[in-house]
Amino acid sequence: MSTDLPNSEDTTLLKAAHTARNEAHAPFSKFYVGAAVMTSTGELFSGCNVEISSYSLSCCAERVAVFKAVSAGHTELVSCAVVTDTTPPASPCGACRQVLSDFSSNLRIVLSNTGGDVRITNLKELLPHAFKPIEVLNKLNHGN
Ligand code: THU
Repeated sequence: MSTDLPNSEDTTLLKAAHTARNEAHAPFSKFYVGAAVMTSTGELFSGCNVEISSYSLSCCAERVAVFKAVSAGHTELVSCAVVTDTTPPASPCGACRQVLSDFSSNLRIVLSNTGGDVRITNLKELLPHAFKPIEVLNKLNHGN
């Protein structure tokens, strides 16, 4: 994890994650999260956490963003931004790390908070020795 300054793509992605966080539906935890992913073709998809009264049905912001990208036909992601109001900025949960892993080969991850602190890391650091079934590896290598 580094405190390097965000590059211009990171800044764009962080803005989208900040905006998405405004829509967070978290009446139970009151923990508001925004996320955004960038695809290998430069498109951007964002999401917020959505909590459901039967709690286990809730979905994290990162997964909402990934599923929006995949459902629009984008299965190769290059970066992901996450915004919370914690210090230090929060990292994606374990479930989201696996989901991100299925749709990337070396994902850049940009974490930030509402105070503007930024941490830069990558999925290899957050999820070493990830579970990668051969079908997922083939898909990432051949892009189909
Ligand atoms: N949450 C996320 O959106 N992303 C994460 O990586 C961790 C947790 C959400 C789920 C729930 O709505 C709230 O934060 C509290 O756990």
